[in-house]
Amino acid sequence: MIPLRKALSSSVGKKFIMAFSGLCLGGFIVVHLLGNLALYRADGAAFNLYAATLESFGKFIIAAELGLIALFLLHAISAMLLKLNHWGARPERYSVVKSKGGESKSTLASRNMIISGGVIFAFVILHVWSFKYGPGITEGYTAAGGAHGEIRDLHRLVVESFHNPLIVSAYVFVMLLLGGHLWHAFWSGLQSFGLTNPRYTKGLYCLGSMFAVVLSVGFLMIPIWIFFDLSTVLLGAIK
Ligand code: HEM
Repeated sequence: MIPLRKALSSSVGKKFIMAFSGLCLGGFIVVHLLGNLALYRADGAAFNLYAATLESFGKFIIAAELGLIALFLLHAISAMLLKLNHWGARPERYSVVKSKGGESKSTLASRNMIISGGVIFAFVILHVWSFKYGPGITEGYTAAGGAHGEIRDLHRLVVESFHNPLIVSAYVFVMLLLGGHLWHAFWSGLQSFGLTNPRYTKGLYCLGSMFAVVLSVGFLMIPIWIFFDLSTVLLGAIK
């Protein structure tokens, strides 16, 4: 605990913690999207089996979830402390915001990281509450899981949720914010780790932007895909 408190008391330490926790959270988001790709199939068996397999890891999955909560908290706390330091050092905010150009990469997303981060944080709480702790086997959301026996029909819950236009719109909005957040985060994280050799700047910036776009679009297309039942529509068009 002491080294953590020490790290959080210096600005370099806070930046490092923010970048490291952000990197790990980025890894989780990639894995989460890969698992959720099964939702692009109209038949929910693959997705339900995937969720049941994760569940079957028992204590390992609980340890991973606790690690994830710690990462989210570290990321949010270090970001807020850095923002407070920044405001403390410069009490009057600029009346006109101007990009320094070049390597500063000041964009709408970079200037509003704390806002997009706050919205994503609130989203994750509501999201986990509604899906992970939403109706399950006792409420009749059951499916046949082969060797797993009777499993939770998580696919049905997701599909029902994504037939509500308000939920779909909220997801699309948050996934766009997530894209903006990741766009700047990748770049800023590299700078925190001192990995910004001018020779590779353009390539790394491009890579970060592609990473953000793929993740944002990959996630936001799921509610749209389900809402418009695109797998049936597209299959019908092909036949
Ligand atoms: C369309 C986009 C998304 C869909 C369809 C989706 C779907 C799901 C589902 C179904 C669960 C419950 C899994 C289970 O109970 O086994 C879940 C859990 C979770 N999701 Fe998402 N998710 C999406 C986007 C996101 C994003 C963008 C984040 C983070 C920024 C996120 C963070 C989480 C977390 C932290 C959990 C809890 C994991 C656990 O405790 O095992 N999700 N998601």
